[in-house]
Amino acid sequence: MLLLSIESSCDDTSFAVGSFKKGRLKLEASIISSQTKIHQKYGGVVPNLSAREHLKNFKPLLSQVLKRAGVDLRDIDGISIVPGPGLIPSLLVGVAIAKTLAYSLGKPLIPIHHIEGHIYSNWLAIPEDMNKISFPALALVVSGGHTQLIFMKDHLEYETVGETKDDAAGEAFDKVARMLGLGYPGGPAISKLASMGDAGAFAFPRGMIGSGDLNFSFSGLKTAVLYTIRKNEDIKNTDAFLADVSASFQQAVIDVLIKKTATAIKSFSPRSLLLAGGVSANTELRNAFVELLPQSAYIPPLEYCGDNAAMQLPAAFKKAEINGLDAYRDGWSSVSATANLRLGLA
Ligand code: KG4
Ligand code: ZN
Repeated sequence: MLLLSIESSCDDTSFAVGSFKKGRLKLEASIISSQTKIHQKYGGVVPNLSAREHLKNFKPLLSQVLKRAGVDLRDIDGISIVPGPGLIPSLLVGVAIAKTLAYSLGKPLIPIHHIEGHIYSNWLAIPEDMNKISFPALALVVSGGHTQLIFMKDHLEYETVGETKDDAAGEAFDKVARMLGLGYPGGPAISKLASMGDAGAFAFPRGMIGSGDLNFSFSGLKTAVLYTIRKNEDIKNTDAFLADVSASFQQAVIDVLIKKTATAIKSFSPRSLLLAGGVSANTELRNAFVELLPQSAYIPPLEYCGDNAAMQLPAAFKKAEINGLDAYRDGWSSVSATANLRLGLA
């Protein structure tokens, strides 16, 4: 089975082609076109600009991914697309393109929830044996818009058992980076500085760490960083201060993420742990996460931590395997862009 996947939920335009045979996934081609440079000067993603770029990118990137995969559009058995959650102008472009392709080619259209895609990016790390990850599984999702603990009894079954009450982890990285004058996106800049700083330099709060439940809060931490910057006006632009604040902030985020995941492991006894979302690119978090269950913790390959189309493929193949491709024949008419789409509804 050969699938084409399309990602346009935020500011990355991405296409991938993958084939699936006897439990093995072959990523035939993957292209991720980042718009970071366009949005950087605004300090964040501008939805309408992002939609315009997706539209411009669509034709050349589609031709390129097919060429790299060495396939013709007619060879594709189905198409997958993210209908949400995401920025509505961006989602609308990708969904319109996917629906048009599916309708005109007579191909099934498989909707993949954006977070479902991030979770399934873990299967891109084990393409040779897609059955290696055992269930039940527990996923820690950490992206720009989401921070959640999700329990999966089996493939495609999701129960949210914990989530943030305010900012998402990635959002906290981005906001703190802005306070420190590090630009957008903040995560990569903070983690780079953090590697040169002292994580014990500032005692930042670990929000809700002792709350007894599996929820998160990062807004208090963000405020604490703001006060620390204000108290240190004279040194706030020095390399040492920026590195120490970055390291201390990053450690506070990681401590909470790891503690809550450890609590969830005790409650749910998962057979596998999965890390997902843009913040999963963070080296310190990756290292601490793997230590939670050394034999059965999975992390996505670095190039597929951020938004990309390839991460949809394992989920799309599973949907086709479980429900049959024919279940998605009328996808061209039933799939629609939904900014706040809930997990499990795509
Ligand atoms: O999943 P993603 O690419 O987009 C959303 O679905 O939101 O996540 C983007 C988030 C941004 O907040 C970015 O700052 C964060 O992931 N991020 C990181 C790192 N790389 C990206 N956060 C911490 N450390 C990183 N190395
Ligand atoms: Zn994402």
